[in-house]
Amino acid sequence: MISKETVKKILSISCIEDVIGDFVELKKSGFNYRGLSPFSNEKTPSLIVSPTKKIWKDFSSGKGGNILTFLMEHEHFTYKESLRFLAKKYDVKIDEIEDNKDNEEEEKLYLIQDYAKRFFIHQLYDTKEGQKNGLNYLIQKRGFDIKIIQKFELGYAPISCNLLTKTVSKQGFKIRDIQQSGLTVFRKTNHFFDCFRQRVMFPIHNLSGKVIGFGGRNINSVYSSTKYINSSESNIFQKSKILYGLFQAKKNILKENFCYLVEGYTDVISLHQFGIKNVVSSSGISLTVDQILLIKKFTKNIVLFYDGDRSGIKASLRGINMILEQEMNLRILFIYNGEDPDFISKKYSFSQFKDFVAKNSYNFVSFKQKIYEKFHKDDPIKKSFLVKNILNSISKISNIIQKELYLQEASKILNIRQKILISELRRIKEKNAHKFSSIQIKRDSKFFFKKRNTLLLLEEELIQLILNHGNKIIKKKAHNTTVIEEVLRVFKSYNLRFFLKKNQEIFNQVCLRNKQIISSNSSNKKNTKSYSLSKWDRKGIQVSSQEDHMNQYIHDVLLRYKSLHISKLIQKEIIHYQNYLTKDEDREAFFKKIMYLTNVKNELHKKLHRYV
Ligand code: CTP
Ligand code: MN
Repeated sequence: MISKETVKKILSISCIEDVIGDFVELKKSGFNYRGLSPFSNEKTPSLIVSPTKKIWKDFSSGKGGNILTFLMEHEHFTYKESLRFLAKKYDVKIDEIEDNKDNEEEEKLYLIQDYAKRFFIHQLYDTKEGQKNGLNYLIQKRGFDIKIIQKFELGYAPISCNLLTKTVSKQGFKIRDIQQSGLTVFRKTNHFFDCFRQRVMFPIHNLSGKVIGFGGRNINSVYSSTKYINSSESNIFQKSKILYGLFQAKKNILKENFCYLVEGYTDVISLHQFGIKNVVSSSGISLTVDQILLIKKFTKNIVLFYDGDRSGIKASLRGINMILEQEMNLRILFIYNGEDPDFISKKYSFSQFKDFVAKNSYNFVSFKQKIYEKFHKDDPIKKSFLVKNILNSISKISNIIQKELYLQEASKILNIRQKILISELRRIKEKNAHKFSSIQIKRDSKFFFKKRNTLLLLEEELIQLILNHGNKIIKKKAHNTTVIEEVLRVFKSYNLRFFLKKNQEIFNQVCLRNKQIISSNSSNKKNTKSYSLSKWDRKGIQVSSQEDHMNQYIHDVLLRYKSLHISKLIQKEIIHYQNYLTKDEDREAFFKKIMYLTNVKNELHKKLHRYV
């Protein structure tokens, strides 16, 4: 554990505008700095950094906090990694309290992996064997250039039985630890052997760029050993929880807001060299939920780009439901003839590639249809399987509008009336219902609880505002009005009522005595705290006087209130729809209404975020 004193020292010495300025171009604006949000694609800057308060706020994404949270959000570092990053930048020595043996063990593993990485790189460039077997293979056979080989820190493991083991242990590492890191094995003959021999080495990095394991490819196609071997699992390396290339791709995934998912190490590297940098590999075809969730930290949009062979296509089909279940959007590239991304990036020019992607990427409905067309032709039994299979995937989608759109698409593509698809979908749902009902109820109630809490807090805020500042004048474009009048106007036009009866009563009373000034003392019913702008302070907005910001503040609270109200309406409509609506006309009306409400909500959100 990093000691409290060190944390304090790091935080006091580091300069927030300097650190954020490394990632975002900041311009001075009054006491603060402003810049374009690194979390969205915007044209007008809504990121504010306050050097005096050492905080930042990004109004387009709603994110904000101190320097550590910035690194955690932007670089996806852990708390500790953020501290280490700053300590390195500002040359602060880290005092660790030794409370955790596991951490120490892990540190050792990281050091060994790092040492091995440098060993393999040295072998690749500086030894005859490495140059002849490794570099030659990478450059001549695979067409990689030196820059990309360096970027991915590729190396070479020599044919010698235990050169790595010997070299690492000379560094003072214990054999037991080298064994733990999956680089050496103990054989019956009482000897240690390097696990990777005569292989090109692909280091696997974690999110902060540390090496946690390796994949090694044999370079000799005649020699019949396994094509790839990977480090064995350790405390720091679990293959099912990592994505190869994510460290190198994460910035570009955020920028492009989608991510190609490929099978292999070489696919990632070739695409990078080609200029496609938002790509990660699941290291084979056994995609896991953990890996999908890892992508979801950066984007909700995946383009599946698996090999065009039997196993790749099968894996794409398997991935569809897994990805939909995590509420992610998905397109799938249809490739066949055994081609893979590595091959395709070499076959096409960049613009041809873009064309290829546009022409051959499908949503899951048309992808499944395409497979059926290609492999099963007009077999009706297979077709009914296809229908059920597509509906099964549709049943995984939780977004109700998307679900409807896919149903429409399926109806068109399969040439089956939507009504029939809907009733079949319902059957699938019922079949799954008993499996999932308890989970769903838990999820729903959690969701409701969260929303309800936000609503109550907001009501509280509004009531305090009305009680303490009800008669303050706020300036509108056409005429001036008071806080109470403004709240009343918005409530009337949206037909709103307070959720808590008690709050509604207070509001009614206040409205009755509209013109009277109500101070917090005279309201003996409620012990209200005096309204302060400290919240704005905390969000990093310079507050010069309360009045200046009253307009903004009341506007903001009301917008948030309206937005919650609309969410509640949408929720209600959906529940009604799920339980009662079966007729086509009703369904159509329902979707129109939901679209309308969603639009209103989006507008409100836009206004809220634009708000500085
Ligand atoms: N893989 C593995 N172990 C194996 C085979 C494959 O871990 N025995 C993983 C590797 O991450 C590999 C990916 O599965 O990159 C895809 O395998 P494959 O398509 O066979 O290899 P490619 O990546 O295409 O490698 P190459 O281009 O060198 O043939
Ligand atoms: Mn492949």
